[in-house]
Formats: sequence, structure tokens, C-alpha cells
Amino acid sequence: MIFSSDNWAGASAPVSEALTRHASGLAPAYGNDPVTEAVSRRFSEIFERDVAVFFVATGTAANALALSAYARPGGVVFSHSGAHIQVDECGAPEFFTGGGKLRGLAGANGKITPEALSAAMADHPDGNPMHGQVSAVSISQATECGTVYRSGEIRALADAAHGRGIPLHMDGARFANAVSFLGLTPAEVTWKAGVDVLSFGATKNGCWCAEAVVFFNSDNALQFPYLRKRAGHLLSKSRFAAAQFDGYLAGGHWLANAAHANGLAQTIGEGLVAAGYRLAWPVEANEVFPVLPHSVIARLRAAGAMFYEWPADNIGSDESAVRLVTSFATDPADVARFLELAAG
Ligand SMILES: Cc1ncc(COP(=O)(O)O)c(C=O)c1O
Repeated sequence: MIFSSDNWAGASAPVSEALTRHASGLAPAYGNDPVTEAVSRRFSEIFERDVAVFFVATGTAANALALSAYARPGGVVFSHSGAHIQVDECGAPEFFTGGGKLRGLAGANGKITPEALSAAMADHPDGNPMHGQVSAVSISQATECGTVYRSGEIRALADAAHGRGIPLHMDGARFANAVSFLGLTPAEVTWKAGVDVLSFGATKNGCWCAEAVVFFNSDNALQFPYLRKRAGHLLSKSRFAAAQFDGYLAGGHWLANAAHANGLAQTIGEGLVAAGYRLAWPVEANEVFPVLPHSVIARLRAAGAMFYEWPADNIGSDESAVRLVTSFATDPADVARFLELAAG
């Protein structure tokens, strides 16, 4: 009953098999190999347009380097105050953007609104060096609250960002879960809704260690090879990152993994509500945030369930919000056992 994180899951069989398949023999280094080239083309097919794709090893690197491609002196990046770039990246976005400022915005369900964004951007008018200059907007899809931006919400944020001449970045550490929930195409969830650059996460959803930065207009990627190399993220054996994506993307495996994880999260959410508990946020992807009495948390842990407590609003003194994360590797039998224990 491990619900600690989707990062605890290993690699899925198709990903492991692809790694083995591409393991032997010699191939050009630094991304000039045939697997990297083929997988890069596959990204363009999936997104229905020519995209510029760059593999990196971590989601933090993907986010920080994506934002660095749009850095300006005194630049300000806007995101939700609970965004991973704000709270979980040890200053990497600030570091790689050359001292850029991250401005966190409040917003229900882990989402920012165009109104809050426009008001915050207005604090940084063009031509006033005292207040810095706007440089990018970043949203997480799925969000850190396990919710998912609808395409109309993304479009409205993109319009606000573009109105100030800055790009919309999407932290897609759980992109597959969001696409699966929305039932839309990857294109509809990104560039067709105004996203300029995507951190395409795959590690949490079946890969061993594979993330990609995807630029939807390759003109914006011209400096990226230098930014990535300078940051130490140009993999000499790029074919192994590519091999993982090869297995991950083939036959819709990535979306099947996400559907499995999302489905079990729904089961957990519905089961806990049926047992009388409340949820801090709606379940839309592969994370569930129930508010549980401490006695129930202790009972679940004593029986071997693993999960983290999580900050949330309106929590009483005898209860805590917890985060339950499902993945492609989550066993439905574990979910059933967990719900049985929770129901007491
Ligand atoms: C929303 C979000 N963005 C990005 C990341 C990527 O983090 P890492 O650098 O650990 O791969 C994570 C991982 O937990 C995440 O939850």
C-alpha cells in the first residue's frame, strides 16, 4: 500500500524492454544517434507539428532550463504559490534564469486565474527597471493539488501572458495524467491552447529517468543547446533517454499508464467520500488529498500504508490532509485493502 509518490514506482515493462533493446552496439553520442532522431520525430507526430525536443534527466532541470530560455535581466516568472518551481526546486529556476524572480500567486485548487495573473503583471510595467520585467508564466499540468486545467483556462492564461509579450510554460511532470483526464489530444492541451514550451515528464509515469523540454516554435529553442550543455544536461548517451521514450510513447503506452493511475485515484477518492471523509481538492489526475482523523492515519500506517501528510486549508487539530499518489504500478488490490482499512 505505497501511495507516497509516483516517483517510487519503477520503470514499466515496455520502457525496460526498450532500454534493453537499444543497449548493445555503438551509436553516435550527444544526441546524434538514430534513436534520438526517431524519437524526436515521434514527438512531432504526437504534437501534430514540428517541435524542438531536448532530453534532460530531471523535471527540475526541464523547468529551470525551459524558463531560462526566456530569461531577461530583472525577469519575473509568475506561477501558483504552491508550484513545484516555487517550493521544490531549491532555487534552480532563479539560478538558471540568472537571478530571475519567481512570483507566486494564490488560486483555488492549485490553479492561477487570468485575473490574478494580469493584476500581478501590472505591478511590473514595461520600462520601469525598479520593478523588473515580466519574463514568463508557468502552470503545472496536472497541478500540485491533483487538479487539471481545462483547455479554455489554459487559453485564457496564454492570452494574458502573450498580451504582455511573454510565453506560457507548462510544467508537465504529470502531463500524461492530465491528457488522460481531459480526453483531448496532446496538441489541444498545449500549443493549440497557447502553450509555448512544455516540460514533458515521463519519469513518474513509467520511465526510469527521462524528461523532455518541448518547444512548439523552434525559433525559441535556438539558444537551448547551449543552455542545456552549460547546465550539464546534455547526455552523452542520449540514446538511453531516447530508448525510454521509445518504449513510453509506443502504442499509447504512456496514456494507458496514466489511465490506470487516474482510475485508481478516482476509486480511492470515491471510496473515501463514501466512507464519510472529505477531500481537500477534487480528484482529477493521480493524486488524492483526503482529510483524515489522526486515529485513521495511525490505523492505516500501522497496517503498512505509506503516504505523506500535506498542507491544506481548514484542517482541524485532530485531523490532517494526506496525499495519496497512484501510478502505473499501483495494484488495485492495495487500493481495495486501503479503502477497507479506512472505512474501519
Ligand atoms: C509538479 C512537479 N514538477 C516537477 C517535478 C520534477 O521534479 P524532479 O526534479 O524531482 O524530477 C515534480 C516531481 O515531484 C513535480 O511534482
